[in-house]
Amino acid sequence: MKAVVLAGGFGTRLRPLSCTRPKLLFPVGNKPLLDWTLKKLAKSGVEEVVLAVNYMAEAFIHRYGNSKYGMKLLYSKEDKPLRTGGAIKKAEELIGHEEPFLVLNGDILANISYKELVEKNRVNNAIATIALYRVEDTSQYGVVELTEKGCVTQFVEKPSSDKTTSDLVNAGIYVFDPKIFEYIPCNKPVSIENEVFPKLAVEGKLYGHIFEGMWIDIGELKNYLKANQLLLDIEIKKSQLASDVILEGKVEIKAPIVIDRKTIIGEKSKIGPHVSLGERVSVGKGVSIENSVIFPGTMISDFTSIRGAIIGESAIIGRWVKIEDECIVGDHAMIQDKVTLTRGVTVCPSKEVTESVLSPIRVM
Ligand code: GTP
Repeated sequence: MKAVVLAGGFGTRLRPLSCTRPKLLFPVGNKPLLDWTLKKLAKSGVEEVVLAVNYMAEAFIHRYGNSKYGMKLLYSKEDKPLRTGGAIKKAEELIGHEEPFLVLNGDILANISYKELVEKNRVNNAIATIALYRVEDTSQYGVVELTEKGCVTQFVEKPSSDKTTSDLVNAGIYVFDPKIFEYIPCNKPVSIENEVFPKLAVEGKLYGHIFEGMWIDIGELKNYLKANQLLLDIEIKKSQLASDVILEGKVEIKAPIVIDRKTIIGEKSKIGPHVSLGERVSVGKGVSIENSVIFPGTMISDFTSIRGAIIGESAIIGRWVKIEDECIVGDHAMIQDKVTLTRGVTVCPSKEVTESVLSPIRVM
């Protein structure tokens, strides 16, 4: 079985963190998001994965090379963004026409059974089967209406509430028969959601497969923090400290947390729950960190408190600082002593902040 992972998006909603790394390489539980997906594909018996790349393509090739978890990795590299459908069409020569294949939006974390999805597609003799998930607010997703037998009768991308009453949305996980390639033109940007699925629905060749459990789309920053939380709850469950982490005196740790190699934590600090501390992070004494992701190489000074925030790589955070409520600090930024950042403030990479910012603005 082969799979295509769509990995070429710009991730504009995750700026400024996506300015320096592709979204799929954001750490979740201290591993790139893509590692979790590849691990799941390998466990499901997939042997070959095509990474459809464009933005920062070299970052993927450099990190993963030609194999991971026993699977062969191939790269389908676009010269310009071909969007979801165009990227699948470009991967045609690597996928071939022998058997159905999986396609995954790479920014999704889900505990779906790929095997069940593939089986659904086979039983219905479908051209495409979409994994579907129930949500309360459907306005940001592709919404699907189904017959009792699971045939999609309508596919509407980001509908207004009068267009559909369904609560089933496209989960960004598909199985396609190779006939799908006949529906996508070559060498041009095509949206599979807007241009191909509605057409297949009209022809009665699109099916849906409803699943439950974990599903999260990390396209937005608040979901990125939530994904880290869920993953720590479901996959890590306990306190996972690398063997060379140094705790300088008594440190209070509340599971689940994950702390990577060569990280140092000062005495009387409180870490957790739901915290990921990357490699070589340095935490001073009396620091409190809760529900946050700290990227590698960052320094957090004494008596600082971080809650519900994301701190980029190699940032420097002063003493008595407070960062909370979905704030994001970009790579290499510097936050001076006694500053408070709250209510979704975003600090751009390498920026120095000398005064508190209490309203949701971008500090450039
Ligand atoms: P935003 O800019 O924040 O909307 O993010 P995005 O560019 O990643 O777009 P979106 O979230 O809609 O993308 C869904 C999935 O498709 C993600 O895994 C993207 O990496 C991938 N994707 C989006 N556009 C392209 C593209 O042009 N080429 C490839 N290969 N993948 C893409």
